[in-house]
Amino acid sequence: MTVTAPARELSKIARRLTGEGRGILAADESIATMSKRLEAEAIPASATTRRDYRQLLLTTPNLADSVSGIILSDETFGQTLSDGRAFPSAARDLGILPGIKVDTGVVPLPGTDALVTEGLDGLGERLGRYAANGAAFAKWRAVFDVETITTYSARVNAQALARYAGVCQRHGIVPIVEPEVLAVGSHDLVACAATTRLALNAVFDELGEADVDLSAIVLKPNFVAPGLDCQRVSARTVATVTYDVLRDTVPAVVPGIAFLSGGHTSADSNDFLRELNAIDETPWSMTFSFGRALVNDALATWSGSAANVTRAQQALLTNCRRAAEATR
Ligand code: 13P
Repeated sequence: MTVTAPARELSKIARRLTGEGRGILAADESIATMSKRLEAEAIPASATTRRDYRQLLLTTPNLADSVSGIILSDETFGQTLSDGRAFPSAARDLGILPGIKVDTGVVPLPGTDALVTEGLDGLGERLGRYAANGAAFAKWRAVFDVETITTYSARVNAQALARYAGVCQRHGIVPIVEPEVLAVGSHDLVACAATTRLALNAVFDELGEADVDLSAIVLKPNFVAPGLDCQRVSARTVATVTYDVLRDTVPAVVPGIAFLSGGHTSADSNDFLRELNAIDETPWSMTFSFGRALVNDALATWSGSAANVTRAQQALLTNCRRAAEATR
């Protein structure tokens, strides 16, 4: 039987993940997504190349100076580095907390044009195994589109997030609660703000109903920004509107917020984060939990060749350091 970490311990882990000066590296792409990203760089996709790429990321020298946690997929969580260590224990050895993505992806939500995230069946049993193998935290991503969100789709996804978060805490695992409003599209800032508000209100209603300990979660939202195909606004404006939405929807007891990059460039994502952290006296710490904004350069530099590993690691480290600087 799993021995659950006391609530105090989970709050401490949530604070460690999101404290100033470090953030979370999202390296948990599904097998299908990771394979597509490898193939886009002309790297043949296999369990071995996916492992080699994640090993390159995790073993980047000095990564722990700017990275507090790494989110792994189920495949990587069960793999070993070339020195024989399992990924979760290698991460801990390196001073980085290992996390695990536990949702199983999205399917259409009948009766709507929206999506719903699945993965609740058997979740407790899976979390027990992940905890026994060293997972400190988990992630579940709900996906919302500005064009298709409804109050019903927000509630259904929020309910799943709340059930997931409750089961995580019972198993001594800090839940990353990720309601992502997609950045793809030509919607404007106002539409993104309204959609993010709807999603976050639903999420915190359901977390409350489920009696989830809000001091022991990490919220992973999108930046509130115009769609990627819409006219840009300044980073200061993105930060101001993002903060307005979060201040109205996220209780102050939540220790940390770790943003996803969502297809924004590394430079834009860092600018948004820097401007957010320039706002005085925010109730939560705000950091990054970026995927693409951190790893894209490393993947392109690596190209699947051992000769490029050092340069790829330098590219990753540069992006992680820049993101970490934006939290100060
Ligand atoms: P991006 O930063 O690439 O959006 O990925 C973060 C993530 O974990 C999405 O679930």
